[in-house]
Amino acid sequence: MKTTLTGKLPYRKIHKPATFSSMIGAFLRFPLVKAELFRYQMTTSERDSSVYYHEGTMTKLQFVDFGGTARTVEATTGSTVMEAAIKNAVPGIEAECGGACACATCHVYIDDAWQAIVGPPTSMEEDMLDFAYDVRPNSRLSCQIKITDQLDGLILHTPERQA
Ligand code: FES
Repeated sequence: MKTTLTGKLPYRKIHKPATFSSMIGAFLRFPLVKAELFRYQMTTSERDSSVYYHEGTMTKLQFVDFGGTARTVEATTGSTVMEAAIKNAVPGIEAECGGACACATCHVYIDDAWQAIVGPPTSMEEDMLDFAYDVRPNSRLSCQIKITDQLDGLILHTPERQA
C-alpha cells in the first residue's frame, strides 16, 4: 500500500533577504529621491536658463596651461567641462569633490572671447571660488559649466596651481 505525507504544507520562502543592490533599487524607485538626484545632476546654468543642447553630440574644448601649452579635447554635450578635463587627463584640473561645487580644485579661467557665452558664476560657485588660488574676474569652476553646442571651440586657461 502506498503512503503519502499529509498535513504538511510545502515550505515556501516568502521573504527574500534584502541585498545591498535590492535596497539601492528600492531607494531609487522612490520618486522624490529620483527627482532630487536629477535636479542635482543639472548644472546651475541649466537650472537658471533654457540652454539648448543635444545630449551626446561632441564639442571641442581647448585647455591652455599656465605655461601656454594648448590641448584640445573632445567633450560630450550634457557633461561638464570638468568631466571632459578629467576624462582626457588635462593637467591642472584636480576636481577633488567630483563636481559637487565643494572643493574649488577645478578652477579655470574663461578666455576673454568666451566670457559672454559661458556667463558668470552663480552665487554658490562664487562662494566656493573664494577658496581657489589666484581668482580673477574670468574665473569659473569647470564642474559648474555644462557643455552645450554653443560652447564648441571654448578656450579655457588653467591656473598655475589649484587651491
Ligand atoms: S570639482 Fe570640486 S568644485 Fe568643481
